[in-house]
Amino acid sequence: MTEPLLQGRAHPDDGPTGVVSFTAMEHGTADDYALLDRFERVHATGLVDRLLDALGRLSGSFGGYQITRLEHSLQSATRARLAGADVDWVVAALLHDIGDDLAPDNHSEYAAAILQPYVRAEVDWVVRHHGIFQTYYYAHHLGGDRHARDRFADHRWAGLCEQFCAEWDQNSFDPDFPTHDLASFTDDLNEVFGREAWSDEVIAVGNERLTP
Ligand SMILES: [Fe+2]
Ligand SMILES: [Fe+2]
Repeated sequence: MTEPLLQGRAHPDDGPTGVVSFTAMEHGTADDYALLDRFERVHATGLVDRLLDALGRLSGSFGGYQITRLEHSLQSATRARLAGADVDWVVAALLHDIGDDLAPDNHSEYAAAILQPYVRAEVDWVVRHHGIFQTYYYAHHLGGDRHARDRFADHRWAGLCEQFCAEWDQNSFDPDFPTHDLASFTDDLNEVFGREAWSDEVIAVGNERLTP
Protein backbone atom coordinates (compact mmCIF):
# COMPACT_ATOMS: atom_id res chain seq x y z
CA MET A 1 0.00 0.00 0.00
CA THR A 2 1.01 3.58 -0.41
CA GLU A 3 2.16 5.04 2.85
CA PRO A 4 0.02 8.01 3.81
CA LEU A 5 1.84 11.26 3.41
CA LEU A 6 2.84 12.73 6.72
CA GLN A 7 1.89 16.31 7.18
CA GLY A 8 0.14 18.61 9.57
CA ARG A 9 0.63 18.02 13.27
CA ALA A 10 4.19 17.82 14.52
CA HIS A 11 3.79 15.65 17.61
CA PRO A 12 3.02 11.94 17.17
CA ASP A 13 0.76 11.89 20.24
CA ASP A 14 -1.33 14.71 18.86
CA GLY A 15 -3.58 12.40 16.91
CA PRO A 16 -3.41 10.82 13.48
CA THR A 17 -1.56 12.51 10.65
CA GLY A 18 -1.37 12.01 6.92
CA VAL A 19 -3.83 11.56 4.11
CA VAL A 20 -5.12 8.57 2.23
CA SER A 21 -3.63 7.33 -1.03
CA PHE A 22 -6.82 7.41 -3.06
CA THR A 23 -8.79 9.99 -4.96
CA ALA A 24 -11.80 7.67 -5.39
CA MET A 25 -13.02 5.50 -2.55
CA GLU A 26 -13.05 2.35 -4.68
CA HIS A 27 -9.23 2.49 -4.77
CA GLY A 28 -8.80 2.82 -1.01
CA THR A 29 -6.73 0.26 0.90
CA ALA A 30 -7.22 -1.25 4.35
CA ASP A 31 -4.51 1.06 5.66
CA ASP A 32 -6.29 4.05 4.15
CA TYR A 33 -9.51 3.18 5.90
CA ALA A 34 -7.73 2.42 9.16
CA LEU A 35 -6.25 5.91 8.98
CA LEU A 36 -9.64 7.48 8.31
CA ASP A 37 -11.12 5.50 11.18
CA ARG A 38 -8.53 7.03 13.52
CA PHE A 39 -9.35 10.51 12.25
CA GLU A 40 -13.08 9.89 12.77
CA ARG A 41 -12.55 8.61 16.30
CA VAL A 42 -10.60 11.73 17.25
CA HIS A 43 -13.21 13.91 15.56
CA ALA A 44 -15.98 12.18 17.51
CA THR A 45 -14.42 13.26 20.79
CA GLY A 46 -15.29 16.85 19.85
CA LEU A 47 -18.99 16.16 19.42
CA VAL A 48 -20.09 17.82 22.64
CA ASP A 49 -18.12 20.95 21.79
CA ARG A 50 -19.76 21.08 18.37
CA LEU A 51 -23.20 20.61 19.91
CA LEU A 52 -22.54 23.45 22.34
CA ASP A 53 -21.47 25.63 19.40
CA ALA A 54 -24.60 24.70 17.44
CA LEU A 55 -26.82 25.44 20.42
CA GLY A 56 -25.08 28.77 20.87
CA ARG A 57 -25.86 29.69 17.28
CA LEU A 58 -29.58 29.23 18.02
CA SER A 59 -29.36 32.60 19.76
CA GLY A 60 -29.23 34.10 16.27
CA SER A 61 -32.03 32.01 14.83
CA PHE A 62 -35.39 33.36 13.71
CA GLY A 63 -37.18 35.89 15.88
CA GLY A 64 -40.76 36.72 16.81
CA TYR A 65 -40.90 35.03 20.18
CA GLN A 66 -40.15 36.89 23.39
CA ILE A 67 -37.01 34.80 23.83
CA THR A 68 -34.41 33.35 21.44
CA ARG A 69 -34.44 29.78 20.19
CA LEU A 70 -31.42 29.11 22.43
CA GLU A 71 -33.28 30.48 25.46
CA HIS A 72 -36.27 28.31 24.54
CA SER A 73 -34.06 25.23 24.35
CA LEU A 74 -32.42 26.04 27.67
CA GLN A 75 -35.76 26.70 29.30
CA SER A 76 -37.12 23.42 28.05
CA ALA A 77 -34.10 21.55 29.43
CA THR A 78 -34.32 23.46 32.70
CA ARG A 79 -37.94 22.43 33.12
CA ALA A 80 -36.97 18.80 32.49
CA ARG A 81 -34.16 19.05 35.01
CA LEU A 82 -36.33 20.69 37.67
CA ALA A 83 -39.01 18.05 37.14
CA GLY A 84 -36.47 15.40 38.13
CA ALA A 85 -36.17 13.91 34.66
CA ASP A 86 -33.09 11.82 33.96
CA VAL A 87 -30.21 12.92 31.79
CA ASP A 88 -31.66 11.41 28.59
CA TRP A 89 -34.72 13.64 28.84
CA VAL A 90 -32.76 16.71 29.90
CA VAL A 91 -30.46 16.41 26.89
CA ALA A 92 -33.41 15.62 24.63
CA ALA A 93 -35.15 18.79 25.78
CA LEU A 94 -31.95 20.77 25.29
CA LEU A 95 -31.45 19.55 21.71
CA HIS A 96 -35.03 19.13 20.53
CA ASP A 97 -34.96 22.26 18.35
CA ILE A 98 -31.31 22.16 17.29
CA GLY A 99 -32.44 21.57 13.72
CA ASP A 100 -34.34 24.83 13.45
CA ASP A 101 -31.73 26.49 11.25
CA LEU A 102 -30.67 23.67 8.94
CA ALA A 103 -33.82 21.54 8.77
CA PRO A 104 -36.72 23.97 9.10
CA ASP A 105 -39.21 21.55 7.55
CA ASN A 106 -38.20 18.47 9.55
CA HIS A 107 -36.34 19.80 12.56
CA SER A 108 -37.69 17.04 14.82
CA GLU A 109 -36.09 14.29 12.75
CA TYR A 110 -32.84 16.26 12.62
CA ALA A 111 -32.61 16.40 16.41
CA ALA A 112 -33.67 12.77 16.76
CA ALA A 113 -30.95 11.68 14.34
CA ILE A 114 -28.35 13.28 16.60
CA LEU A 115 -29.79 11.72 19.75
CA GLN A 116 -30.85 8.28 18.51
CA PRO A 117 -27.56 6.36 18.98
CA TYR A 118 -27.12 7.69 22.53
CA VAL A 119 -30.54 7.66 24.23
CA ARG A 120 -33.36 5.28 25.06
CA ALA A 121 -35.74 4.36 22.27
CA GLU A 122 -38.71 6.22 23.70
CA VAL A 123 -36.67 9.42 24.05
CA ASP A 124 -35.70 9.23 20.39
CA TRP A 125 -39.33 8.64 19.42
CA VAL A 126 -40.62 11.59 21.40
CA VAL A 127 -38.06 14.01 19.96
CA ARG A 128 -38.66 12.61 16.46
CA HIS A 129 -42.40 13.32 16.75
CA HIS A 130 -42.52 16.42 18.91
CA GLY A 131 -42.99 18.71 15.90
CA ILE A 132 -46.27 17.17 14.83
CA PHE A 133 -47.47 16.96 18.43
CA GLN A 134 -46.64 20.63 18.95
CA THR A 135 -48.97 21.63 16.11
CA TYR A 136 -51.81 20.96 18.54
CA TYR A 137 -51.06 24.37 20.06
CA TYR A 138 -51.14 26.50 16.90
CA ALA A 139 -52.14 24.75 13.66
CA HIS A 140 -55.81 25.75 13.94
CA HIS A 141 -54.79 29.43 14.05
CA LEU A 142 -53.22 29.00 10.63
CA GLY A 143 -56.04 27.03 9.07
CA GLY A 144 -54.43 23.67 9.79
CA ASP A 145 -55.43 20.60 11.76
CA ARG A 146 -54.42 20.82 15.39
CA HIS A 147 -55.30 17.15 15.82
CA ALA A 148 -52.75 15.89 13.32
CA ARG A 149 -51.01 14.10 16.18
CA ASP A 150 -54.07 11.86 16.57
CA ARG A 151 -52.70 9.61 13.83
CA PHE A 152 -50.27 8.39 16.48
CA ALA A 153 -52.90 8.08 19.20
CA ASP A 154 -52.49 4.31 19.47
CA HIS A 155 -48.72 4.43 19.71
CA ARG A 156 -47.33 3.36 23.06
CA TRP A 157 -45.36 6.62 23.39
CA ALA A 158 -47.98 9.10 22.17
CA GLY A 159 -48.78 10.04 25.75
CA LEU A 160 -45.13 10.68 26.49
CA CYS A 161 -44.87 12.98 23.49
CA GLU A 162 -48.00 14.87 24.52
CA GLN A 163 -46.54 15.32 27.99
CA PHE A 164 -43.14 16.40 26.64
CA CYS A 165 -44.80 19.10 24.56
CA ALA A 166 -47.25 20.18 27.24
CA GLU A 167 -44.83 20.41 30.15
CA TRP A 168 -41.46 21.25 28.60
CA ASP A 169 -41.91 22.62 25.09
CA GLN A 170 -45.06 24.67 24.41
CA ASN A 171 -44.69 26.54 27.70
CA SER A 172 -40.98 27.32 27.41
CA PHE A 173 -41.24 30.80 25.92
CA ASP A 174 -41.26 32.75 29.17
CA PRO A 175 -38.67 35.52 29.47
CA ASP A 176 -39.15 35.58 33.25
CA PHE A 177 -38.49 31.90 33.85
CA PRO A 178 -35.27 31.22 35.81
CA THR A 179 -33.59 29.38 32.98
CA HIS A 180 -30.26 27.63 33.56
CA ASP A 181 -27.35 28.65 31.34
CA LEU A 182 -25.81 26.58 28.57
CA ALA A 183 -22.63 25.76 30.49
CA SER A 184 -24.70 24.08 33.21
CA PHE A 185 -25.68 21.37 30.72
CA THR A 186 -22.13 20.46 29.68
CA ASP A 187 -21.90 17.51 32.07
CA ASP A 188 -25.28 16.20 30.86
CA LEU A 189 -24.09 16.36 27.25
CA ASN A 190 -20.81 14.66 28.13
CA GLU A 191 -22.65 11.86 29.91
CA VAL A 192 -25.03 11.13 27.05
CA PHE A 193 -22.59 11.54 24.18
CA GLY A 194 -19.84 9.72 26.07
CA ARG A 195 -21.86 6.51 25.80
CA GLU A 196 -21.14 3.76 23.34
CA ALA A 197 -23.25 4.67 20.32
CA TRP A 198 -25.94 2.16 19.42
CA SER A 199 -25.11 -0.17 22.30
CA ASP A 200 -28.04 -2.36 23.26
CA GLU A 201 -28.12 -1.05 26.82
CA VAL A 202 -28.14 2.57 25.68
CA ILE A 203 -30.90 2.40 23.09
CA ALA A 204 -33.10 -0.11 24.91
CA VAL A 205 -36.56 1.00 25.97
CA GLY A 206 -36.47 2.39 29.49
CA ASN A 207 -39.17 3.15 32.02
CA GLU A 208 -41.30 4.97 29.44
CA ARG A 209 -41.88 7.88 31.79
CA LEU A 210 -40.75 11.49 31.65
CA THR A 211 -40.11 11.70 35.36
CA PRO A 212 -39.50 9.09 38.07
FE1 LIG B 1 -39.58 21.83 17.87
FE1 LIG C 1 -39.40 23.63 21.09
